[in-house]
Amino acid sequence: MFEPFTYKSLEAIRKKILDLDLSLPLSNNVEALKQPLEFKKISIPNRLSIQPMEGFDAKSNGAPSELTLRRYKRYAKGGAGLIWFEATSIVEEGRSNPHQLMLTEKNYKEFRNILSLVRNLSKKTLNNLDFPNNCIFILQLNHSGRYSKYNNKKYPIRAYHNQELDHALGTTEKEGKVITDEELEDLEQIWIRKALLAKEAGFDGVDIKACHGYLISELLSSYKRLDSKYGGFSLKKRSLFLKNIIKGLQNKNNKFIITTRLGVFDGIPYPYGFGVKKNQNSILPLTVDLKEPIELINTLNDLGVEIFNITAGNPHYNPFVTRPYDTPIKGGSIPPEHPLISVDRILNLCGAIKSEIKNEIITISSGFSYLRQYAGFVASGLIEKKKTDICGFGRMALANPEFPKQLFQTGIINKNKSCITCSKCSEFMRYGKETGCAIRDPLYRKKD
Ligand SMILES: Cc1cc2nc3c(=O)[nH]c(=O)nc-3n(C[C@H](O)[C@H](O)[C@H](O)COP(=O)(O)O)c2cc1C
Repeated sequence: MFEPFTYKSLEAIRKKILDLDLSLPLSNNVEALKQPLEFKKISIPNRLSIQPMEGFDAKSNGAPSELTLRRYKRYAKGGAGLIWFEATSIVEEGRSNPHQLMLTEKNYKEFRNILSLVRNLSKKTLNNLDFPNNCIFILQLNHSGRYSKYNNKKYPIRAYHNQELDHALGTTEKEGKVITDEELEDLEQIWIRKALLAKEAGFDGVDIKACHGYLISELLSSYKRLDSKYGGFSLKKRSLFLKNIIKGLQNKNNKFIITTRLGVFDGIPYPYGFGVKKNQNSILPLTVDLKEPIELINTLNDLGVEIFNITAGNPHYNPFVTRPYDTPIKGGSIPPEHPLISVDRILNLCGAIKSEIKNEIITISSGFSYLRQYAGFVASGLIEKKKTDICGFGRMALANPEFPKQLFQTGIINKNKSCITCSKCSEFMRYGKETGCAIRDPLYRKKD
C-alpha cells in the first residue's frame, strides 16, 4: 500500500526495505560511484549519468534556446561522467510539443555550439573533482508516435489501436492515425540520417529511443498490428524497425556510440505491453517477463550496440512504474503500490537483465530520484553487486544538478536540495510548459 517518504535515517529506509521484503542493496558508502568505466577506447569518468529530461524550451525551429543551454550548463557543473541529452525529435510531425528539441540539417550547428560550451564546462568541473577523463555526451533521438502533436494539438501516430491508451491520453480512435509500413520505411532512413547528423553536431553517440510508449517502444509491443512487416506475434517483426535503423548505422562510425534507451517492461496488459507475462490481463500485479527484452538486447548487441539504458513503464499510462513518486500531477492518482516497490522493480529489472547478458555489455539504470538523499547508497550497492554499471538520475538532476559533486565530495546528496518527487516537473510537461523543478529552482518556482 502507498505510504509517503518519511525516512529520517539510512537505517529507517533500510528497515522499510526489509519489511517490504525488497532486495534494494544499500552500501554504506558511495566509493563505487567514483570508479571510471573503460569502454572500447572510451573512458567514462565515473558511474553517474544525467538521464534525458525534456525541457520543452527549444526554439520553434527545434534548436536549443538560452534556457536549454542553462539546463545543460547546470548539469555540466555537477560532475556526472555521462550526460544524456533529452528526447529530440527526428521530424516535425513526431514532436510531442512545439518546443521539443528537433535536430535538422538547418539547425545542427546550433546544437554543436551549445554542446561545445557544455563540454568545456564539464571538463573544468571533472578536472576540479580529480577525474582525468572527459564527460560523454549522447543525444536521444525520438519520434513521439502516439504522443505526437500537430499544430499544438494531440495527433496520435499509433503503431496500433488501443482504447485504454487512447483513454489515458484523452483521445479517441478518430483522432490521429495508425502509421503505415511505407511511412515507417521512410522514417528508418530519416532516423539514420539524423543519427549521422548528431555525430556532425559533435555528440559522442546517439540513442535510438525505444521506451515509454513512443513510436519504437509501441512497435515492440505491436502484436495487434496485423498484415504488417513491423507487427504480429514474432519479436523479429516487432523489432524490425529498430534493427533496421541500427543496421543502417553499423560500421559507419567506429568510435561513435550507437545505443538505445530500452523500455524492458511496459506494465501494460498483454497483448499490448512489451516484457509482460502473456497471461496478464490487469495492471496489478505487474508481472514481468524478460525473455523477449533479453533476446532483443542480445540481437542488438550482435549488431554492435554495447550500451543499453534500461527503463520501464509508460509515463502517460502508469507513471509510477517509470518514475516512482509521492505526489501525483494535478488530476493524477496516488501510486497503487508502495513507491519503494516501484523503485525496487525498475532497478532490479536492470540487474535481472545484466545477469543474463554478456559481461561486456554496459547497462545504465534509472528510477533513483525517489530515494532522495539516500539514492547514492543504493546506486553504489547496485554497482558493487554488479546489477548495473552506471546510475542515471532524472528528476534529481532538475532539482539538484550538483548531486554528483555532493556525492563525490561529501558522500551524500544534500537533503535540502533533493528532489521530493512532487511531480511538478511532469505537470509542467503535461501542460506543455517549459519544464524544471518548481521546488528547488527559483526560475521554475515563479512559473508554477
Ligand atoms: C519532466 C520529465 C521529462 C522527461 N524526459 C525524458 C526524455 O526526454 N527522455 C527519456 O527517455 N525519459 C524522460 N523522462 C524520464 C526520466 O529520464 C527518468 O527515466 C525518470 O524520471 C525516472 O528517473 P528519476 O527517478 O531519476 O527521475 C522524463 C521524466 C520527467 C519527469
